[in-house]
Amino acid sequence: MFFDHIEAAPADPILGLTEAFKNDPNPEKINLGVGVYKNEAGQTPVLESVKQAEKLILETENSKSYLPITGLPEYGRLVRELLFGDDHEIISSKRAISCHCPGGTGALRIGADFIKQQNVSATVWISDPTWANHYQIATAAGLNFERYPYYDRATHGLAFDRMLETLSQAKEGDVVLLHACCHNPTGIDPTIEQWEQIADFLKEKKLLPFIDFAYQGFGHGIEEDAQGVRIIAQRCPELLIASSFSKNLGLYNERVGALTVVCADGATAEKVNSQLKITVRTAISNPPAHGEKIVTTVLSDPKLRALWEQELSEMRERIRDMRVLLAAKLKEAGAGDFDFVVEQNGMFSFSGLNKEQVESLKKEHGIYIVGSGRICVAGINHANIDALVKAIAAVVRN
Ligand code: LMR
Repeated sequence: MFFDHIEAAPADPILGLTEAFKNDPNPEKINLGVGVYKNEAGQTPVLESVKQAEKLILETENSKSYLPITGLPEYGRLVRELLFGDDHEIISSKRAISCHCPGGTGALRIGADFIKQQNVSATVWISDPTWANHYQIATAAGLNFERYPYYDRATHGLAFDRMLETLSQAKEGDVVLLHACCHNPTGIDPTIEQWEQIADFLKEKKLLPFIDFAYQGFGHGIEEDAQGVRIIAQRCPELLIASSFSKNLGLYNERVGALTVVCADGATAEKVNSQLKITVRTAISNPPAHGEKIVTTVLSDPKLRALWEQELSEMRERIRDMRVLLAAKLKEAGAGDFDFVVEQNGMFSFSGLNKEQVESLKKEHGIYIVGSGRICVAGINHANIDALVKAIAAVVRN
């Protein structure tokens, strides 16, 4: 038999929670696990800008033929403009190329495969904690990885000194995986000054930045959230960026993202592009079109673009409001000081709850959060917040 030795694998730490949630008969259950935005009514609706773009696409689409291996040039240009701004030198000098990938995960995997193919001995340095899939993607690509400290439990802040101290062990040519904004799972981002120090450090140590940019627009705004990427790009001539439109356009199941590779000059970028075509061709052949068409239509039509920016800021503001309310209600309930939740960015809050507390939230209260204590604040609303606060207050007291 070929398969009889196979052992059952553990459930995915994030998506596995959604499965467990669906199977839970508790009518009061609340899913604050997976990073998916929900509105005040607890739904994840299709954005209006996306709906309107889809109507236009339906009317004008006249072929389902293959896309080019790395996607359409127009899509790549729009991705780079979101990253760097319209008139950035990186764009005019044509020293960056973008490759349309299936989601942010696809972009990370294509990037990791590319790194492995071009520099087999590179170690990837990944923050501790991070999105659990980062470790798996590096491993699947055959890359060695090491962890650098990121979170300081005592201050609920960034362990900045320890981070750089650990990264000083990296050797020239190693890769440092960073989160552009809304760090997953902690919600803690470097300040502008810290980004500058990180950029100088990477440049001096000749380390290659690989930036996961899954939440552009969920921290402080589209431009504001790109500051870290732009500072790194100012100092470091080469970097990779994995973009995702799952969250900011709500295109979760369309799997649309991009890998952008910035090179020192245009001639190198062309060579990198030729290699990436092989990486993509052997992994997925060529990318799926529907999500890309939506992104291109929304970003290039001024009316839809304005509508999207409005919808994105509404999502961001709603999450911020929930942070403030959650911290206030937890204090009121005597659960302790959770003011740090207000300082965190994006969909997630690293609550500080331990494994046992997370487990009793699930078993005793039907509330699902990630094992690390990560709460998806984007799933909280006025209807479920009191149950959540009551449950957290009960588990922290035990
Ligand atoms: C998350 O961290 O919850 C999201 O990025 C969804 C996922 O794929 O894990």
